[in-house]
Amino acid sequence: MKKLFGVIGNPIGHSISPQMHNDLFAYYGIDAHYHPFLVEKGRLSEAIKGLKSLGAAGFNVTVPFKTEIIPLLDWVDPLAQEIGAVNTVLIKEGNLLGYNTDGPGFLKSLEEELPLPERPSILIIGAGGAARAIFFTLEKTRPAAIDICNRSVEKAKSLSGEAKTGVPSRGLTLAEAEDRINEYDLIVQTTTVGMYPNIGKIPLDPGGINTPFSAADIIYNPSETEFLKQCKLRGGSTVNGIGMFVYQGALAFELWTGIKPDSGRMRSTVLNQLGGATC
Ligand code: ATR
Repeated sequence: MKKLFGVIGNPIGHSISPQMHNDLFAYYGIDAHYHPFLVEKGRLSEAIKGLKSLGAAGFNVTVPFKTEIIPLLDWVDPLAQEIGAVNTVLIKEGNLLGYNTDGPGFLKSLEEELPLPERPSILIIGAGGAARAIFFTLEKTRPAAIDICNRSVEKAKSLSGEAKTGVPSRGLTLAEAEDRINEYDLIVQTTTVGMYPNIGKIPLDPGGINTPFSAADIIYNPSETEFLKQCKLRGGSTVNGIGMFVYQGALAFELWTGIKPDSGRMRSTVLNQLGGATC
């Protein structure tokens, strides 16, 4: 019988995960289907029970349910617990097992796409859910330091205070980070600033940079944010959010099927879909 997978969220119509995973199922000859499920707020628990009783094999979780789902699961991976968010669920022998592939997906994209020194000094812009996933993943790679800057500085300070590995970490205002911008080898932009339709906006001005650096933006629509444009002008090596999206999906696919999928193929599917998107 066809195996059922999917993604639950609200809204969900814009998701390109169904195309990405259904293409992989066809390519690897797996008899399965991945479906987008719009779940009403307040009905998460019912939705999960429904998926379980229908025999679903696994699903992704997106906004706004990544944190709310945690107490509804039978087991949560330690990294997902630290992050406080689950984006991938595997249903095994009737148990719901929760993982977070967003942070590891981001790390894989960095390793594949950016030149970095062995122990980089890192600045994360933003302190929301995406920043948490990236912070707790990157701190395990033993970088020289990871600072966090955010419009609401208390959130940056609070996240830096949660560091588990002893990595030096400070919570900064956006202005403080701009003043210290030359301290960093890698700047990671995780806010929603500059995302379609608000293209042209930047969260922090990289204009003061005059040392070699790399910059990653987790936004993929537009494919090059104003922030990345400005970083390129300052001589930075840059990467957009497509790699993170592809690799978080690749890691989920591997958890569900045991197959390490062809990430180049996934990237082509995503680019084809985005070609038709509003960007
Ligand atoms: P996500 O889960 O995608 O990270 P989020 O948890 O809502 O989304 O976090 C959004 C991030 O973008 C936050 O760091 C937010 O800053 P605040 O904590 O101060 O709200 C940041 N952000 C959103 N709009 C912003 C703006 N106009 N200027 C600067 N930062 C902004």
